[in-house]
Amino acid sequence: MKLEINSAESMQKLGRAIAQTARPHDVLLLTGDLGAGKTTMTQGIGRALGIRRPIKSPTFTIVREYRDAKMPLFHMDFYRLEHDDLSSIDLNAYLEEPGLVVIEWPQLIMNDLPDSHLQLKIERVDDSWDSTKRVVNFEPQGKRNDTWVKEIIEEFNK
Ligand SMILES: Nc1ncnc2c1ncn2[C@@H]1O[C@H](COP(=O)(O)OP(=O)(O)O)[C@@H](O)[C@H]1O
Ligand SMILES: [Mg+2]
Repeated sequence: MKLEINSAESMQKLGRAIAQTARPHDVLLLTGDLGAGKTTMTQGIGRALGIRRPIKSPTFTIVREYRDAKMPLFHMDFYRLEHDDLSSIDLNAYLEEPGLVVIEWPQLIMNDLPDSHLQLKIERVDDSWDSTKRVVNFEPQGKRNDTWVKEIIEEFNK
């Protein structure tokens, strides 16, 4: 399943559709180059969950927790993960909490992630550096995530 996104606003709208259909313990993996729009999408998710604090890239902290929300959001970014940093965060503790886990750069911890997850691969499709065009590829793993993709697309197209 693929979706064409033409602007940062539209990427946030996709984030909103994700938030509106998310259930506790859902795991969303966001891959794509720097500047693809992973954090922008997460901002749309956060806003729709009623989070007032600005959602910033958690690059220097790995995890940012937003608990004052319709559903807790745990936003992680493993881009700068150093060799033994992973031991400093208890990933399983977050996975056990009834919240939504969003992970940028999950490639670095793929072996530690649950089998059931929804991966979104964001690609720039134009060569020009300032193009706002993106393609989002949906790669669900497991039954719940197949259903979730359908719900997201339906909500996004409303
Ligand atoms: N269609 C789009 N989707 C997401 N971001 C876009 C889009 N078009 C332009 N942008 C811009 O690209 C940048 C994406 O940055 P960011 O979301 O931090 O990327 P990432 O987290 O993937 O590194 C932002 O400045 C955003 O405004
Ligand atoms: Mg980012």
